[in-house]
Amino acid sequence: MDNPLFAAIQERIQAAGAISFCEFMALALYAPQWGYYNRPQIQIGRRGDFLTSSSLTRDFAELLTDAFVQMWHALDCPQRFTLLEMGAGEGEFADGVLGYSQVTYPDFFAALEYRIQEQSPSLRERQQQRLARWGDRLRWQGSETAAEPISGCIFSNEVVDAFPVHRLQWQGGNWQEIYVTLDSQGAFQEVLSPLKDNRIHEYFATVGIDPSQQGYGEGYRTEVNLHLIPWLRDLSQRLERGFVLTIDYGYPARQYYHPARCEGTLQCYYRHRCHANPYRFVGEQDITAHVDITALIRYGEQFGLETLYVTRQSLFLMALGLGDRLLAQQQRNGNLRQALNRHQSLHQLIDPLGLGGFYVVLQGKQATLELPQLREADQGLG
Ligand SMILES: C[S@@+](CC[C@H](N)C(=O)[O-])C[C@H]1O[C@@H](n2cnc3c(N)ncnc32)[C@H](O)[C@@H]1O
Repeated sequence: MDNPLFAAIQERIQAAGAISFCEFMALALYAPQWGYYNRPQIQIGRRGDFLTSSSLTRDFAELLTDAFVQMWHALDCPQRFTLLEMGAGEGEFADGVLGYSQVTYPDFFAALEYRIQEQSPSLRERQQQRLARWGDRLRWQGSETAAEPISGCIFSNEVVDAFPVHRLQWQGGNWQEIYVTLDSQGAFQEVLSPLKDNRIHEYFATVGIDPSQQGYGEGYRTEVNLHLIPWLRDLSQRLERGFVLTIDYGYPARQYYHPARCEGTLQCYYRHRCHANPYRFVGEQDITAHVDITALIRYGEQFGLETLYVTRQSLFLMALGLGDRLLAQQQRNGNLRQALNRHQSLHQLIDPLGLGGFYVVLQGKQATLELPQLREADQGLG
C-alpha cells in the first residue's frame, strides 16, 4: 500500500475492531503529516481542491475590513484591537486585511493586532512565508498566547465545516452511529452501532429537534458536529469584549434535520469535483459537512455570546459596499481581462447558489454593532 495514511487508518481499525466515522474523518483530515490539511502538498484555491472567498479575491478581505473597523468604533476605538483568525488557510485573508487597513484606515491599523490560530503545521509555514512582511504586527497563537484575553473580534471562514462529525442513521425508531471497519479485502466498510454518546441526545435537545417526531424513514442519515461545542466555549471564554464572526455554509437545524434531507450533508472535494464518498482519495481530498447554524447560535448563547446578526454572505457583503465596488469596476478603464476576472469574482462572492448563500453569524460579548443596511435584511433562519 503506497498511501501511508490509508495503512495507518487500517492499522488503527485492526487494533480497535471499528472506529467511529468521526475518528475516521479526524484521521483523514488531521493525522500528523499525512492528513489532508497537514500534509505539505495541501493547497487551497485554484491550484487545490476547492475555492474559498478568501482565495477567490482580495475584495473579500477588504470588505470585511470595513466590518472590523466598524467593530473597532463600536468598542470606542481602543488602543489595541485584536483580530484572531481561526484556520487561516493560505494566509490571503490576513494579508488582505493588513494591507487594506494600512492604506485605508491608518488609525485602525495602528491599533490592530492580528493573530492566527492554525492547526496545520504545513499551512502555518506557508502563512509565515506569505505574511513575513508584517513582522510583529502578526502573531501565531501558541500555547503562551492562547490564554490571553481578547478584546476585538474572532473570525473564521469555512473552518467549522471542516470539523470531524459524527454520522448517524435512523434505524427502527432510534439512532445508530456509523462506524468504519475493514472488509475481507482490507477496504473500508461501514457498520452500524447503537448510539452510546449521550452528548448527541443533548445536542438535539439544544437545537430544538426531537428526532422521534420528525417522521424519518428507515436508513435516514445525518451528521452532528460536536467539535463545534468546545471550540465555541473556548472562544467565548477567551473573548473579554467584542465579536465572533463566523462564515460558513449550512442550514438552520429545522432544515438541516428535515426528513427530506435523507442523505445528510457530507461532501468531499477532490480537484474541484464534489462527490459523497469519504473512503476514496484518503488524505488527498477534503471532507466536509454543512454547519448547523442553530447550534452556533444556541451554544453561543449558552456560553455568553449574544446573537447580533444572522444573515447571508451576499447581503452582508452588499451592506459593506460590494455593490459600489461592482459599479466602480465597470467604470474603470484598464486591462480588460483583469477587469472581467474581478467582475466575475465579485459576482461569485454574492452568488446565492454559491458563496453568496453562505451564512454569516455575528455574535457579541459586551458589545453590539449597528449595521443599518442589514436591519431590514432577512435574518436567514426563516
Ligand atoms: C477550508 S480551510 C479554510 C481556510 C481559510 N479560512 C479560507 O477561507 O481560505 C480550513 C482551515 O481551518 C483549519 N482548521 C481546521 N480545524 C481547525 C482548528 N480546530 N483550529 C484552527 N484551525 C483549524 C485548517 O487547517 C485550514 O487552515
